[in-house]
Amino acid sequence: MTLSELLPSLGCEAADHLEPGLWPRRTTLGEDGELLFADAPVSHLAARFGTPAYLLDEAQVRETARAYRRALPEADVAFASKALCTRAVLRWMAEEGMSLDTCSAGEIAVARAVGFPAERILLHGNAKTPEDLKAALQYGVGRIVLDSLDEIEQLGALGSQRVLIRVTPGVNGDTHAAITTGTEGQKFGFSLRADVRDNVDRAVAAVLAQPSLELTGLHCHIGSQVSRVDRYEEAARRMVEVLVRVRDQYGVTLRDLDLGGGHAVPYVDREASFDLDGYARRLRVALAYECSSRDFPLPHLTIEPGRAIVGPAGITVYRVCAVKRGARTFVAVDGGMSDNPRPALYGARYTARLVGRRTKAARTPMTVVGRHCESGDVLADVCLPDDIHVGDLLAVPCTGAYHHSLASNYNLVGRPPLVGVRDGHATLLVRRETEEDLLRRC
Ligand code: LLP
Repeated sequence: MTLSELLPSLGCEAADHLEPGLWPRRTTLGEDGELLFADAPVSHLAARFGTPAYLLDEAQVRETARAYRRALPEADVAFASKALCTRAVLRWMAEEGMSLDTCSAGEIAVARAVGFPAERILLHGNAKTPEDLKAALQYGVGRIVLDSLDEIEQLGALGSQRVLIRVTPGVNGDTHAAITTGTEGQKFGFSLRADVRDNVDRAVAAVLAQPSLELTGLHCHIGSQVSRVDRYEEAARRMVEVLVRVRDQYGVTLRDLDLGGGHAVPYVDREASFDLDGYARRLRVALAYECSSRDFPLPHLTIEPGRAIVGPAGITVYRVCAVKRGARTFVAVDGGMSDNPRPALYGARYTARLVGRRTKAARTPMTVVGRHCESGDVLADVCLPDDIHVGDLLAVPCTGAYHHSLASNYNLVGRPPLVGVRDGHATLLVRRETEEDLLRRC
């Protein structure tokens, strides 16, 4: 028998506070155990919109966008819409003066639906379909980031366009393999290595040979959930080297440098977060130094944060469906891997807390699981009050990014709604997926 089995509450601290930095800034805990989310009681939101439900603090999303623009006023800050792509969110981004990173005709369609300024849109993707390219050209997006020789040929034949070339800078973001994109041996970008067939030099030559394409710069994205600022400094230095190489070899001075996104956010207590001001400062110094020492003009910078803008502004609310006390206690909720596949995909860790009532019961380690037909359908290993029971509400923080956008209707469970909250007022931004929706397709 282990020590934690003998003393079940070992390592479980009292839950009388919200872990700082983990919950949206305007989330507070009431005396009665109620969680106020942007001034709205979560149990009321759960009753009104049902569970599971994604809640999003609009003011925090806007403030974070502003913080990015303030930290790097000289740069284009492009929200990576793959993190959360809805009309409302893209409207907020347009209003906050952000640019937009898209990666499909679908994301362009949402941007178009809200009149997102086309010149502020970038299109990405390692395998853009003809439909993606046509949608981008039709809407007149500002820049397309090219990622294969085939694509260069296809786009060149389709129409005139300003383009960047995606480079694999050989920088490791020190993150999960599935979201590492800056190193050799993964599918994104053109290699810097001379012994690789489709390398950056060939890509530059291929673009310059297409009269309809205007090469304005280079792009890289080293990965996602990257907390180390030095990795971005390193990427910036290497990218300036490539800009210089292109100038020396081809006689073209590229003015655009896009360093991608990937800035980490904490999902559990004491997890590393990203130092935005340190990043801005160190990036500026690195670029200024590299450029001046090589006599290269300072390029116009673009960055593409997604997760950091929306992730920490969101929470998910679930209702407990069953509590099973076996060798381990399982708390099963009415959602799971269909609304949050991140634990299963990336081994991501989350926390969860009881909301809506107060209890003095001791807290013990439990596993919060979903309702799907797989043992891997686990949401979090956490400490919860011993008297947890059917009908209780659980809230999981930091679910604003890559939850709604990664959601599926596995087991034909409808996808949850997304509810925007501002000053205590809730608005349904995306409605719940109904059986009627599901039946329309199968
Ligand atoms: N720019 C490019 C070219 C990207 O591929 C990505 C993310 C971003 C920007 C934004 O990265 P962010 O700042 O959001 O980390 N589903 C995974 C994340 C995949 C990210 C893919 N690309 C997850 O849930 O962790």
